[in-house]
Amino acid sequence: MLEKLESVYQQAQAELTEIRDSAALAAWKSRYIGGKGAVSQLLRGIGGLTPEERPVFGKRANEVMAALDEAYAAREVLVQDIEMAADLEGAVLDVTLPGRQPAMGRLHPSTQTLRRFSEIWAEMGFSVYRSRDVETDEMNFTLLNFPPHHPARDMQDTFYTTDPDVILRTHTSAGQIRAMRELGGGGTKPIRVVLPGMCYRFEQITNRSEAQFYQVEGIAVGHNITMSDLKGTVAEFARKMYSPDAKVRYRASYFPFTEPSMEIDIECFLCGGEGCSVCKHTGWLEIAGSGMIHPVVLRNGGYDPAEWSGFAFGMGPERIAMLKHGITDIRNFWANDSRFLEQF
Ligand code: PHE
Repeated sequence: MLEKLESVYQQAQAELTEIRDSAALAAWKSRYIGGKGAVSQLLRGIGGLTPEERPVFGKRANEVMAALDEAYAAREVLVQDIEMAADLEGAVLDVTLPGRQPAMGRLHPSTQTLRRFSEIWAEMGFSVYRSRDVETDEMNFTLLNFPPHHPARDMQDTFYTTDPDVILRTHTSAGQIRAMRELGGGGTKPIRVVLPGMCYRFEQITNRSEAQFYQVEGIAVGHNITMSDLKGTVAEFARKMYSPDAKVRYRASYFPFTEPSMEIDIECFLCGGEGCSVCKHTGWLEIAGSGMIHPVVLRNGGYDPAEWSGFAFGMGPERIAMLKHGITDIRNFWANDSRFLEQF
């Protein structure tokens, strides 16, 4: 049996050195070192040996098995190299083919609009104040003069967290108090800032309203700031952002944190004021809520309302992007469809 084992060993080694492809290698493996291979077969016959022969044979069989395993592994690496080289030889490289255009990313249309907003506001002396998306009920509502059960809270269906005091901001106005407290020097310094950011409302998604959207808040606090400053500032913005003869109109409105309050509309560019589905057939598109900052809010921000006044506005940049590009469905903004995004 030992002789048989040695001859199997030699045979296996000799065959292995001839192998050049993985199919032959697999066949060799099962023929010699697999569970039903020649070495295992011989080991199974160990019962027929004398007790003295058995350990000698067993030891040698294990050595042979280990040596063949090792030889197999080395050959496997070689076979892989041989096959890869053959593959490469077969592949034809046509160096005259045109190169592939790399797909270039770009800024999201909302980001582009936000940047344009900040640019225009910067020209007009407003700096950017970044507030937070996750807010307290206090900042989003209470300090803005929304009493706990005031019906105005219904205007803005809110995404609550498991902590009832922690919410997703429903409007960028939530950052007003933070900006006043942080930049106002305890009610001693005038401020002029814009607060761009994402807002969230738990509401029905339609072609005109999304559950998440950007707003750009603006606030100016100083001595003798009046409604005409607000109107002039917003009209100037509309002319820069939109077109030099953009038509703007103001409608009386209500917000708990401004008094008086106005809604600002811009003539619908899609239909030229004729009326279409985007402007709800009114010919006008609402671009901002605004007003003179309520004395209670000024006080909460650290200012004495007897000496200081200010205005605030909140705009929806997606609306303006829709106007500019003739987009009729606001849901495109967050649908992440590259066919839409590629166009900007
Ligand atoms: N926060 C208001 C809204 O989301 C808009 C607004 C901002 C109104 C500032 C007045 C002043 O509808």
